[in-house]
Amino acid sequence: MATIREIYSAQTIQDRIHELGKEISHDYAEHEKPVVIGVMKGAFCFLADLVRNISAKDPLQIEFVRLSSYGAGKESSGHVQAPWLDLPDIRDRHILVVEDIIDSGRTAKFFLEYLKDQFSPKTLKMAVFLDKPSRRVVPCQPDYTGFSINDLFVVGYGLDYAENYRELPFLGELSGIEEG
Ligand code: IMP
Ligand code: MG
Repeated sequence: MATIREIYSAQTIQDRIHELGKEISHDYAEHEKPVVIGVMKGAFCFLADLVRNISAKDPLQIEFVRLSSYGAGKESSGHVQAPWLDLPDIRDRHILVVEDIIDSGRTAKFFLEYLKDQFSPKTLKMAVFLDKPSRRVVPCQPDYTGFSINDLFVVGYGLDYAENYRELPFLGELSGIEEG
């Protein structure tokens, strides 16, 4: 039977995002026309809360892409797919990528390299809700991290298991799933 054990409550998440927002607002205080790119689907809750905690000199431009590392189970396939990668001309801008979680690091590495190649950003940083540093396969160091966690499979607050549980307002560890 699937069970979900709460790791971070909705309030704990909001408190941490408030701190991250302050840090980012400080770092972006003098940046002109920053662009925030949310990586769908997992980052939708984090992005929505994070941007409402950022105040920069200029308003934020918000864009979305959809990336996935193929597969419905708990293990990423190692193959990054980009079902939606349609960005406007954001050359020479300050880009902040917002991701749900860095696990192997493959998705982040793929997307950061893509952005560098396509748009030569003035600055390129990444904010992640969660980091699982022990799972890294390719090197990748986020600039802003909500929480660093052990090697657990987590759901809620945007993160899914086989497209379920994204709507949970808290983050929980999922267990009791039989993978076939
Ligand atoms: P990567 O392995 O760093 O490329 O991470 C790829 C993707 O795996 C993330 O964006 C998530 O969608 C997914 N993922 C990794 N760990 C978890 C987890 O614990 N719960 C839900 N999704 C996860
Ligand atoms: Mg993701």
